[in-house]
Amino acid sequence: MTAQSIGKIAVLMGGTSAERPVSLRSGDAVFSALKSVGADVVAIDVQAHAISQLTELDFDIAFIALHGRGGEDGTIQGVLEWLDKPYTGSGVMASALAMDKWRTKMIWQAAGLPTPTAFLLEDNSDWSGLINALDLNAIVKPAREGSSIGMRRVHNADELKNSYEFACEYDGMVLAERWVEGREFTVAIVDGEALPVIQLKTSHEFYDYDAKYEANDTEYLLPSELSEIEERHLQQLALKAFDILGAQGWGRIDVMQDRSGDFWLLEANTSPGMTDHSLVPMAAKAHGLDFSALVLRLLTEAKQRHGH
Ligand SMILES: Nc1ncnc2c1ncn2[C@@H]1O[C@H](COP(=O)(O)OP(=O)(O)O)[C@@H](O)[C@H]1O
Ligand SMILES: [Mg+2]
Repeated sequence: MTAQSIGKIAVLMGGTSAERPVSLRSGDAVFSALKSVGADVVAIDVQAHAISQLTELDFDIAFIALHGRGGEDGTIQGVLEWLDKPYTGSGVMASALAMDKWRTKMIWQAAGLPTPTAFLLEDNSDWSGLINALDLNAIVKPAREGSSIGMRRVHNADELKNSYEFACEYDGMVLAERWVEGREFTVAIVDGEALPVIQLKTSHEFYDYDAKYEANDTEYLLPSELSEIEERHLQQLALKAFDILGAQGWGRIDVMQDRSGDFWLLEANTSPGMTDHSLVPMAAKAHGLDFSALVLRLLTEAKQRHGH
């Protein structure tokens, strides 16, 4: 489909989540790419009154460049369903599910897919019992946040409790997950296909906010160091993890590999970063799809899906 035949495109960006600054960058990149190929495009900084913003806007299809709650969690998707407008990425259910790392884990476990053991934390958790059950090596995460915000690695009961309190500043739902020592990968999925795997190397303890957006020593290995067989295995695992959540269109699955070679699913992203330095565009490029071709492919898939 050409840029012109897609119709009037609204790029939804910004939003009110903690990932707003990243989303503004994603939205700008998508908007510029669409402009450069001559598309009819308008950029919308989604505010708290999103419903009236979208109702008043004249558009044919939405590119969702929002990240985090409000934009990646099924709520904006629900508004677009009611407006009967096609939009990129997953629908209401999978967006809501993937936003919640705890319930994502429940589904993956039920499907027999590998994901590290984790516990939900509460004010009166048995801190020493839990940290022992996690082999004194865990990561505490807000369940519905992104960009590594609110996360800390922990080794003892005191750190577990303090990190729980820290994570609570971002979300009332917090989990402690067994730490996986080893290599980190991410698998981009576009239109039913797993793209070449990217391996992430950081000098930080983990791929934290700074390593993601600020540091200039974060390495992205593409091709990854995996053997061809391992790479294909990981791509299949990522596709299964994506499909079992009911995710659609595009997304990214984050994975660790332990020292014995086993893969462990961390999370699914249903509206990943789209800056020109982001991971999905990087994988797409290695697959022969430049940034604007990727954006057009996502819009085309969304439009075709809506027609069915
Ligand atoms: N169980 C784990 N073991 C080791 N590192 C982890 C684990 N969970 C998360 N990490 C590190 O933290 C980063 C962010 O975690 P992730 O679950 O992907 O959340 P998000 O990207 O939504 O903030 C990962 O990219 C990885 O570097
Ligand atoms: Mg992640």
